[in-house]
Amino acid sequence: MIGNEINAAVNLLNQGQVVGIPTETVYGLAANGLNEKAVVSIFKIKNRPFFDPLILHFSDIESILEYVVELNPKALKLAQAFWPGPMTLLLKKNDKVPDIVTSGSALVAVRIPNHPLTLSLLEQLDYPLAAPSANPFGYISPTKAEHVEKQLGDLVPYILDGGDCQVGLESTIVDCSEAALKIKRLGGLSVQEIENCIGETIEIEISSGSNPSSPGQLDKHYAPKTPFLIVDDLETSILKFKDKKLAYLGFGEIADNDNLYILNLSQKSDLSEAAQNLFHYMRLLDQIGFDCILTMKVPEVDLGRAINDRIKRAAADFIHYK
Ligand code: TXA
Ligand code: MG
Repeated sequence: MIGNEINAAVNLLNQGQVVGIPTETVYGLAANGLNEKAVVSIFKIKNRPFFDPLILHFSDIESILEYVVELNPKALKLAQAFWPGPMTLLLKKNDKVPDIVTSGSALVAVRIPNHPLTLSLLEQLDYPLAAPSANPFGYISPTKAEHVEKQLGDLVPYILDGGDCQVGLESTIVDCSEAALKIKRLGGLSVQEIENCIGETIEIEISSGSNPSSPGQLDKHYAPKTPFLIVDDLETSILKFKDKKLAYLGFGEIADNDNLYILNLSQKSDLSEAAQNLFHYMRLLDQIGFDCILTMKVPEVDLGRAINDRIKRAAADFIHYK
């Protein structure tokens, strides 16, 4: 059921149930992060492997301090600059954080999301919310309550509707557990903004492959079921696939074409607008029933880096498509 009653969400969460929650990045599938049984339900509903750890969500920095060994000066600086917002910090956890949340790791991922409904929900709870994105494992993350309802509605008793996600990409993950910070996932806060805040360049260390330390970074992820191909030259690809029913997910100026169903991420070439639309448009095209969805890369700057990362992962399984 979809609704906007915070009390309904509070009651269910207090009973150890799982609730869909809005954030500025994507919708989350939330449960009491200190209740192991409730956390197990999240993994089951998502069909997510237990080796893929969850983010704990809080309403304020003071509450986070109860669950980590320390918030070192750089982490504190980032926290004060960007929370609430689309950034997750990896910090050394203490014993209060159940191992199931971190998949046995000594680090815990924490974040203060920037959404009024969820902040007010978190303020009413005396525990953090463990929440991955509210999609079946491997599929595109949800940016509307309806996305969650459609795929997981039968398994989740309540979805708190906070409207469309304003950022549209998952949070940027920064490992703050060592002296040198590392970006572990590109996301809704650009690397540039983080570097400007800290005053140094930050290494980007995104693991990939089949047994990564950050399994959110599996090569194939965020993927539609319809073959999804990145093309360099649209005209050539249209000729190559001339017998197929084709869609094009584009950006900026796109010439009309009778052989294509076109969705434009941002006609005015605005990367924030493109990020907001990306997952919704991928879902729409996946549902219509094309033989193949063609797409492109956006400029590799600011949010464009995270957009390209998601597009590449969505396309990873289809590189041999003919
Ligand atoms: O924007 C977001 O971050 C959204 C909203 C709901 O907050 N959440 C989200 O969660 O994207 P999820 O579970 O889909 O991705 C979280 C990723 C994991 O796949 C993993 O890569 C990384 O965060 N992560 C979480 N805990 C970690 C840990 N202890 N060590 C290393 N990586 C961790
Ligand atoms: Mg996810």
